[in-house]
Formats: sequence, structure tokens, C-alpha cells
Amino acid sequence: MPVNIAMDGPVGAGKSTIADEVAKRLGILHLDTGAMYRALGVAALDRGLDVNDEEAVTNLCQTIHMDVTHEQGGQHTLVDGEDLTSRLRTEQASMAASKVATYPGVRAEMVRSQQRLARSHAMLVDGRDIGTRVLPKATLKIFITASPEVRAKRRFLQLKESGKLGDTTFEQVLSDLLARDDQDMHRETDPLRRAEDAVLVDTSEMDFEASVEAILALAKERMA
Ligand code: DC
Repeated sequence: MPVNIAMDGPVGAGKSTIADEVAKRLGILHLDTGAMYRALGVAALDRGLDVNDEEAVTNLCQTIHMDVTHEQGGQHTLVDGEDLTSRLRTEQASMAASKVATYPGVRAEMVRSQQRLARSHAMLVDGRDIGTRVLPKATLKIFITASPEVRAKRRFLQLKESGKLGDTTFEQVLSDLLARDDQDMHRETDPLRRAEDAVLVDTSEMDFEASVEAILALAKERMA
């Protein structure tokens, strides 16, 4: 079994960017499983499906072919040969992903393909159910979090810097984040929770480099 690192945590903990950097420094691949739920959401919308229609979305998930490739610029996520990567970060894709991720049939399919990918390569896999469901025997499990206020502040600054803030207030960003936390932690199938053997990394008081270093130290110790 190749080295597998499981990294879970709520939205806005900096998981994806930290995971990218840690994987790069360890020389292993980074699998962003959120991108797979997002790609399914976008594919459903493209085909004119209602993402609230569990049967139609589950059916779609079982019939499409999803490919994940890793190139120099990072992960590409393709559905039936179409590269959807540049369309996965919109608010619409986030909403659709969060809905389709609640369906047990969808999760079963996703977990299977994520396990298949992790069997073939050394990988750092980030998501919500990696330590608890996808890779229960991971070499190292990390649960990365930060206080809701700190996470909302980071998200607010990110939106501002990318010119996407519009007239959204900090209070709105915070309440959206709490709503997504609630949805992720209280869904019936594989909710977000810390695996008993996951190491908790709270980045509330850490900057990006300190967070990366903390996880690298844990990974090196475990891989030695
Ligand atoms: O990490 P993200 O924001 O890109 O994830 C998109 C959505 O998919 C989010 O609502 C949580 C969900 N998700 C999940 O349920 N399980 C995963 N392993 C990864 C993401």
C-alpha cells in the first residue's frame, strides 16, 4: 500500500492550499476530493438536471466517467472527457456540490473511485470523510481546523482580493460558512467529523508557512 495521508476539516481552514504545498514538498500527489463532488454538480447542471433530484443525480453519477489527472499546474477533473477544472470554483458549483454530496449513492461511487486512486499512488487526500471512511488505514490522519471567525475572515479577504466580494458583508460570509459547516457535519452519510486517531491541527494562530511546517513535521515523523 503506498503512503496515504488523510486530511479532513471544515470549509475555510485552508485545507486545499496547505494540502497542495505539503504534497509538493513530500513529492506525492494531492487528491482534492471536493473537486470531484463539484464536478458532479456542474455536470448535473450542464445536463439540465435538478440537483435536488436524488435519483437523477445518483443515476448520472453511476453512468458518467470521471477522470482525475495530475499535471504541473495541479489536479484536473474531467467528466466524460470534458475538463471542468476552470468551472469548479463558482458559488453555483459550491452549492451544487454541497447538495449532491448528501446522497448516499453518490458518496458510495465517489468513495470507491477515491480508494482506487489512492491504491495506485502515494497521495495526500483532502476532503471531509477521508480519515473516517475513504482511508481508515491512512499512514497519517490530520483534522485541520480554525475558529469560525478566523475562517470567515480568511474567506472574506480572499473574495476581496480576487474582486469577487461585491456587496457581501463579513457577517454574510460568516453565516454562509456556519450554514455549510452545519450541512457538512449533520448530513446522514459520512458527515464531517474528526477520526479518533486523527491529529488535530488548529491553524487559528498560524500563518500558511507555519501550518505547512506543522503538517510536514507530522508526516515525516510518521513516514520515517
Ligand atoms: O472542499 P470543497 O469545498 O471543495 O467541497 C465541496 C463540497 O463537497 C462541500 O460541500 C463538501 C463536500 N465534500 C464531501 O462531502 N466529502 C468530501 N470528501 C469532499 C467534499
